[in-house]
Amino acid sequence: MLRTGIMVSGGGTNLQAILDAVDSGKITDTEISVVISNNPGAYALERARTHGIEAVCISPKEFESREAFNRAFLEKVDKYKLDLIVLAGFLVKIPEAMVKKYEGRIINIHPSLIHEEALRRGVKVTGATVHYVDGGMDTGPIILQKAVEVEKGDTPEILQRRVMEQAEWIILPKAIQMIAHGEV
Ligand code: GAR
Repeated sequence: MLRTGIMVSGGGTNLQAILDAVDSGKITDTEISVVISNNPGAYALERARTHGIEAVCISPKEFESREAFNRAFLEKVDKYKLDLIVLAGFLVKIPEAMVKKYEGRIINIHPSLIHEEALRRGVKVTGATVHYVDGGMDTGPIILQKAVEVEKGDTPEILQRRVMEQAEWIILPKAIQMIAHGEV
């Protein structure tokens, strides 16, 4: 069993895609041990609880310094003895000590190229990327990517939704399944 923790900050549609993939057997040999959010109001926490999964919040705002948060965050994560940490729309930078300790065990979903600037310049294709997390910003080794067409008249919101539907919700569960089976 791949003990997996999912980190979230918002709505949690990627989390939902993972939970659905576990339910339908697209992800196997994987246990979602905990969902952790920095944001107490994240709907993702609700999704986890509805699914009977432990949902916890740890917010930097509860701590007097970033260092204190980083230490407490790492301690909390350590408690769950995770084999894999999935950043599914987690908007907090992972502390360096955690990146080091969990090297090769943290993955992130990144909505590549979604921004107004890209749309203005007439970008035709965008997509999403699942990659390992290293010390940089979206710089770790790439596991999976999927391209999505930009359509005429797209707004950033419409495009972001299409990228989630056609790419993120597919490749993030797939990457977990591949990791659980030693295929990465
Ligand atoms: C997703 O689009 C994800 O790719 C993005 O946040 C959204 C979370 O949506 N992540 C990042 O931007 C990380 N840099 P969700 O909460 O509905 O899964």
